[in-house]
Amino acid sequence: MEISSELEDTLLGVLSRFKGKKGVLIQALHAVQNIVGYLPPSVLRIVARELDVPLSEVYGVVTFYHFFSMKPRGKHVIQVCLGTACYVRGGQEILDKIQKELGIGVGEVTEDGLYSVEVMRCAGACGLAPVVRIDNDVHKRVNPSQIMEIISNYT
Ligand code: FES
Repeated sequence: MEISSELEDTLLGVLSRFKGKKGVLIQALHAVQNIVGYLPPSVLRIVARELDVPLSEVYGVVTFYHFFSMKPRGKHVIQVCLGTACYVRGGQEILDKIQKELGIGVGEVTEDGLYSVEVMRCAGACGLAPVVRIDNDVHKRVNPSQIMEIISNYT
């Protein structure tokens, strides 16, 4: 992704709030992702430079946490939990249904830019499996037959 000078100025302004502070990399990446929508390599280089953090460390954090994405995301991000509890209670079936109905695979965005699909590893609600998170909402005990109706509420 090529960064326009306006976007770079905006990012520099945001990152200036974190400069010289310790333990702020995750916060800074959140702030930047909220602006750009995702974290392509060109943006990660700016973050590393401005915060004076090795680029390898920035990549390490971005690839470790599921809430960071290096690819463009849809307006609504659907995350299907495939941790053990959710998997055995139908998580894969839910994921298959979503992919079939939306016509996209994991990590892809629908043509209208409305949805993207991701997989996550344990949302911390195993007792209420299977779990699907859409944006900041956690849907519990999801039945595959209901999932598209749930998704249709996000427009
Ligand atoms: S395995 Fe899905 S919430 Fe824990």
